[in-house]
Amino acid sequence: MIEVKNLTFSYTNKPFITDMNFDVKKGEIFGFLGPSGAGKSTLQKILLGMLPGYQGLATVGGTECRKHGDSFYQMIGVDFEYSTMYEKLTARENLEFFSSLYEGKKRPINELLERVGLENDADKKVSDYSKGMKSRLNFVKALIHDPELLFLDEPTSGLDPTNNRMMKDMILEEKKRGKTILLTTHNMQDATELCDRVAFIVGGQIYALDSPHNLIMSKGAAKLTYTWDENGERSGSCRLDCVADDQRLSKLISENRLLSIHSSEPTLNDIFIEITGRTLV
Ligand SMILES: Nc1ncnc2c1ncn2[C@@H]1O[C@H](COP(=O)(O)OP(=O)(O)OP(=O)(O)O)[C@@H](O)[C@H]1O
Ligand SMILES: [Mg+2]
Repeated sequence: MIEVKNLTFSYTNKPFITDMNFDVKKGEIFGFLGPSGAGKSTLQKILLGMLPGYQGLATVGGTECRKHGDSFYQMIGVDFEYSTMYEKLTARENLEFFSSLYEGKKRPINELLERVGLENDADKKVSDYSKGMKSRLNFVKALIHDPELLFLDEPTSGLDPTNNRMMKDMILEEKKRGKTILLTTHNMQDATELCDRVAFIVGGQIYALDSPHNLIMSKGAAKLTYTWDENGERSGSCRLDCVADDQRLSKLISENRLLSIHSSEPTLNDIFIEITGRTLV
């Protein structure tokens, strides 16, 4: 669905994105995970055809991104990182207007508003909306013409836990309906839960690209931590795959002296720091 080969782009005369390569397959959720300023939105904008001055190959649906025509915009839905609504219009008026720009069958506005919990605020002006309400409205605007490819730029940013859950469920529903989704985030939990594959991006470069599970397994080993009583509580740990070699642990188990034991896997955040040397914020 998306192919990027030897992509190079800069806003200035200093190199930013250099020689980047990745592809996105039909039906997958692909994530750009990286800290602020990494280039996540820039990459989305290149793919949307908004930054035509790139070098290398960048195609969506087989068409070079700088050559997208009207049919491309019918095929995609975009949830930008900032609100793209008319503030003086109500939510319903905004959705009616944007819906009228597309051809074909549209999704019912009432249903979409209800799905994101905005049914009682549908006739309120967008200028009176809170940040989270604008986020939810921006998201359903991207769905209105039922596009096959969704670009979601930080769709869960600024949402409370309930709305974060609702948004993630909706994104997973779109995937189930066969849509291809490209999303950016600096929330590693969302990336782990949603993405089939993620690209770690820092400073315009991809540092790693794989499924969250493979990234976690390739670098980190799960750890076992245990405590026992020996003139007060003491603790020890070992790698989960080396439990049999830990003689102290074997002895504590045979003497039934363990107070607690638990295993923990590294998170995608741990792996991100290990691979890129950067935190996600
Ligand atoms: N129009 C522009 N002109 C010049 N520089 C820009 C422009 N837009 C973005 N940049 C720069 O490009 C770099 C990447 O920005 P980008 O918006 O792609 O980051 P991001 O990964 O989306 O960050 P965030 O998580 O904060 O949204 C930043 O250093 C930014 O200042
Ligand atoms: Mg951004």
